[in-house]
Amino acid sequence: MSSTYNETNNFEMIDMDKELENFLQSDKTGEAPTKEPLRQYYFMNRLKQWVAAENEKNQKPLKFLTQTFGCQMNAKDSEKLSGILETIGYVETDTEEDADFVVYNTCTVRENANMRVYGRLGYLNSLKRKNPNLKIALCGCMMQEDAVVDKIKKSYHFVDIIFGTHNIFKLAELMYSRIHSKRMVIDIWKDTDQIVEDLPSERKYKFKAGVNIMYGCNNFCSYCIVPYVRGRERSRNPEDIMKEIKHLVDQGVVEVMLLGQNVNSYGKTLESPMTFSELLMEIEKIEGLERVRFMTSHPKDLSDSLIEVMKDSKKICNHIHLPLQSGSTKILGIMNRKYTKEDYLGLVERIKSAMPNISLTTDIIVGFPGETEEDFLETLDVVRKARYDSAYTFLYSKRTGTPAAAMENQIEEDIAKERFNRLLKEIQEISAERTGRDKGTIQKALVEEVNGQDNSLMTGRLSNNVLVHFPGNSDLIGKIVNVHLKESKGFYYIGELV
Ligand code: SAH
Ligand code: SF4
Ligand code: F3S
Repeated sequence: MSSTYNETNNFEMIDMDKELENFLQSDKTGEAPTKEPLRQYYFMNRLKQWVAAENEKNQKPLKFLTQTFGCQMNAKDSEKLSGILETIGYVETDTEEDADFVVYNTCTVRENANMRVYGRLGYLNSLKRKNPNLKIALCGCMMQEDAVVDKIKKSYHFVDIIFGTHNIFKLAELMYSRIHSKRMVIDIWKDTDQIVEDLPSERKYKFKAGVNIMYGCNNFCSYCIVPYVRGRERSRNPEDIMKEIKHLVDQGVVEVMLLGQNVNSYGKTLESPMTFSELLMEIEKIEGLERVRFMTSHPKDLSDSLIEVMKDSKKICNHIHLPLQSGSTKILGIMNRKYTKEDYLGLVERIKSAMPNISLTTDIIVGFPGETEEDFLETLDVVRKARYDSAYTFLYSKRTGTPAAAMENQIEEDIAKERFNRLLKEIQEISAERTGRDKGTIQKALVEEVNGQDNSLMTGRLSNNVLVHFPGNSDLIGKIVNVHLKESKGFYYIGELV
């Protein structure tokens, strides 16, 4: 088994577009360069030749599937993986049965995310018996856990490549070594302080795109595994972010979603620090860009200047996702969230008085260790006061290695479930009432796709993130149109073009 384990990485990076351009025009033979991303383009080129030969031999193209198991950042990483595979010459497919290369980009935020991966792995093994050329790669957050990698090494021999969250960009190099070593290749980095720019990315939509503005997380909420599997917080240079967005706009993108675990602390780690609201003001100036979204906002870092910038902006969407987690100040303290119930409600108040029609959404955890009925009632109280447009609710899930997993006062499942159901009912009632509030008005919608159930209808997204379905044709996809919101259906609208 060839296995590399790096405490930190010490590769060199290039920062000159010219050097990359020259390299791409060279014949890319000889020794692999040490600089990134040149090194990866070198391996992509070697694999391109290999894929072409395989295609010739088999008289059909090699196909790949990348499967995202986690959040938007995980999805963004999958686009990078797909970009590399397409550059190499693989053709995308949407079924495992048809694929010669399957990449599972895993998530470990809650136990059920892990279970889904193990469940599917058994099935992949059966496919590999039918197609011995099938290659299986596992990457992403779950692979940053030693226990997971040990289990796969022991019980899932048929896996070909394992890598983590910090070296997504290395897929081509890892594939190359797998093809030549004929053994499982494992490459997991503990952490990294580098950001590799300028690699290919295959976007799911032509008209909207996620853009990483930062990686990692330094908050260590006591229940959460993300800081352990995504490493320390690091921000991308504003120049790189601007260059990427301008490039996306040139390709027809009208809406970007700025991604980070805590976008409100953007820029703190930069050589010349910059705030998130300053970054937003720069992005706002990009001509041709129509809409800007971001996620996620940590309440402790959401500044008044961000509220001001949002209020005055023509492009920032009318929506803030503001995870609450719990409404009990006691539980918030143990969660290490660094705000109280009153701080949170005060923030909601400031946001709503500046932008009365804003959509607020949230994440809530039920059944955190030590949560009493009184604590839970505090959560319900915040839900009633904040009047969320929608909320993601989660049963607390014990993550090995986090402080909360070692707490003694874990909550019994039936108590947690009962609270969960009460919370859900409350949220659904408020959410249905909130979503209907724009009924009868005319709003701008970005047309995203043909409605899955009725293909005479198009589906568009309003600035506040709610969907509207209306009669129209597929020429409208990617355009921002005015829609009259005729009818509210609780979580979406039925409308008509005006
Ligand atoms: N960085 C984001 C959240 C990323 S994880 C933030 O701070 O808001 C997405 C959501 O998963 C969290 O908001 C939390 O509600 C939930 N979550 C994280 N760890 C969890 C756990 N151990 N059990 C249940 N839900 C969890
Ligand atoms: Fe997890 Fe907290 Fe970081 Fe969000 S801010 S990723 S919940 S540790
Ligand atoms: Fe999951 Fe990793 Fe995202 S654990 S939620 S994929 S950061």
